[in-house]
Amino acid sequence: MESSASIVFIESQRMSPRKKTVIEILRDNPGFVSGQAISDSLGISRNAVHKHVNTLRARGFRILGISRRGYRLEEEPRRLVMPVVAKLTQAAALGSSFRYYEEIESTNAEARRLAADGAPEGTVIVAESQLKGRGRLGRTWTSPPGKGLLFSVILRPGIAMTDAHLLTLTAGDAVAEAIEAQAKIPVHLKWPNDLIVDNKKAGGILLEVSGEQDRVDWVVAGIGINVNVEFAELPVALRKTAISLKMATDKTVDRSVLLARILLTLEKAYFDCLSNGFERSLRGFRERDYLLHRSVSVQTREGPVVGEAAGIDDRGALLVELPDRHVRRFHSGDVTLHQ
Ligand code: BTN
Repeated sequence: MESSASIVFIESQRMSPRKKTVIEILRDNPGFVSGQAISDSLGISRNAVHKHVNTLRARGFRILGISRRGYRLEEEPRRLVMPVVAKLTQAAALGSSFRYYEEIESTNAEARRLAADGAPEGTVIVAESQLKGRGRLGRTWTSPPGKGLLFSVILRPGIAMTDAHLLTLTAGDAVAEAIEAQAKIPVHLKWPNDLIVDNKKAGGILLEVSGEQDRVDWVVAGIGINVNVEFAELPVALRKTAISLKMATDKTVDRSVLLARILLTLEKAYFDCLSNGFERSLRGFRERDYLLHRSVSVQTREGPVVGEAAGIDDRGALLVELPDRHVRRFHSGDVTLHQ
């Protein structure tokens, strides 16, 4: 297979102002677009347009081509195109091997099993749909088949158990950065693990850890993102609080490229933490902090605690300033905005 996907990926980072890609032109024009119009708009030859179209076809896009009329996008790939993901991440440590499932109970559950069996760092379990997707605090994570990104990465950081939770912030910041780069929308982080777009939840991170007190054996970083989910596909109960990248941008996002981009961004952030500590992740989180200076309610065993969110401390704990000015620290818990 040709390495067109990496060309799309690199182009979108280098060109300034960025030119559209062939697929974006076809997406923006539901009818036929002539090869000449595409070639004029991109400043490339007709032959090069034809080659791009063929590469897109090899990636699962159904594109009709009729002489003297041009090209029409008939259908986007419904499944992740794993050869594209593998190609884009070929030199990467995260994505050293992929296990792709059409349907699975939960990628995190499978990753835990594999990690306990000795699967190496960088193994990625990815699924089009989950029967029992798991969320934080015992919640479920639902996503219509083929519309989201649902994956888990096995990590073996060899850090102390007491530091492992900080990887949630690392992963959140890396995923947010990758989404921003691809979908061109701002992404905020709601402590500790929610990805927020337009004040709604677009995704979440579920970190599961195993090991001894002084050393983590493995970490499973589970990531769920509403990518191309339509409003009508969201469970009714979530329609006020959830959003997808497509709903936010009105554009279909290439899930294969986004998955690769997230793995590459996460890899960079992860190895930086292992070499230099978590300062960078903490800084990244602080810059995206959705709750900062908002009135919040933290659910605790003793009942809700209401105050103003005051950022996170160097251990990643949420700081909340109470009405009496006293600042309370939360290491875990469910936080909601307080009206
Ligand atoms: C949350 O916001 O509560 C975290 C949601 C994490 C969901 C992802 S989807 C892929 C991975 N597998 C799971 O079962 N859960 C995580």
